[in-house]
Amino acid sequence: MAKSLFLAAPLILQALPGAFAWGTLGHDTVAYIAQNFVTSATKTFCQNILADTSTSYLANVATWADTYRYTSEGSFSAPYHFIDAEDDPPSSCNVDYNRDCGSGGCVVSAIQNYTSRVVDTSLSTTEVQKALKWIVHFIGDIHQPLHDEALDIGGNTIDVTFDGTSTNLHHIWDTNMPEKLVGGYTLTDAKTWAKTLTTSIKTGAYSSQKSSWLSGINIDDPITTAMGWATDSNAYVCSTVLPDGVSAVSGQELDGSYYTTAVPVIELQIAKAGYRLAAWLNLIATGSTGLKVASKPRGAPMIEAVKVMPRDFEAEMSPAKLARMAYGHKC
Ligand SMILES: *[C@@H]1O[C@H](CO)[C@@H](O)[C@H](O)[C@H]1NC(C)=O
Ligand SMILES: [Zn+2]
Repeated sequence: MAKSLFLAAPLILQALPGAFAWGTLGHDTVAYIAQNFVTSATKTFCQNILADTSTSYLANVATWADTYRYTSEGSFSAPYHFIDAEDDPPSSCNVDYNRDCGSGGCVVSAIQNYTSRVVDTSLSTTEVQKALKWIVHFIGDIHQPLHDEALDIGGNTIDVTFDGTSTNLHHIWDTNMPEKLVGGYTLTDAKTWAKTLTTSIKTGAYSSQKSSWLSGINIDDPITTAMGWATDSNAYVCSTVLPDGVSAVSGQELDGSYYTTAVPVIELQIAKAGYRLAAWLNLIATGSTGLKVASKPRGAPMIEAVKVMPRDFEAEMSPAKLARMAYGHKC
């Protein structure tokens, strides 16, 4: 009885659309955008690993990680979906690898780990496949601002309502706001949204900034690269997610002006995630981004190099890390 209940749990979770980080819609859209910008060599590389030559080869695996984390076999990967930045929004936003990536790992360390494992020929086909599925998913997650924030467990414990439904701040960024914008969450909805955002990247509103999205990208330094993405995303916690602090949103209906202000950031972050995922996969498969990369303007501060220190597992955990543990590593 207990066993059959346990086995059914992932299926039930899978059947709940939009129950997960960036929701199904966000992750599938990121994957489709990436498919539009990978080179043909990268496409072959990914299709071979995934044994899927369909037109949705990346979108088909984009939410696997959110199902796997709820299985007993995959529970170790739950902390890999976020980095809990212990900053102080809205007055100060920042991410620090040594402060914020817990001893169990985080989205930044996971991007590094699976970038090296996807090309590790000593690993089994299954492990290489999982590595690619995780890369597709985590480059999506890291672009959701509340996946780069410790406050109130990434907004999970900030209760709000959206279109009359009781939910929380994290969930509306993952799911309710993207779904309201697009009007659905199917693969077809994701493909349509990806097409719109791909056009914006190629010839529309994002075309002049897209090369800056790849500034500093370095396949030999995944930690610094992913920290740049996390820092970029975390800045929106101060500017857009919680510009007037928690009290301004707590218990409020957010489908009005809050939603209107959030939409451009959601579109931008989904577009960036897809474009950066394509560049990262191109780097992995071919050694080059295959896309135009802006050089840093002279004198611009580089993304601060990250010192990876041996972890002190005995160190006292911060209140935010204890709160996250008690919460159970949900998104
Ligand atoms: C890297 O990934 C493997 C396979 O999922 C996992 O067993 C290992 O703990 C990971 N290492 C780090 C440092 O995250
Ligand atoms: Zn996730």
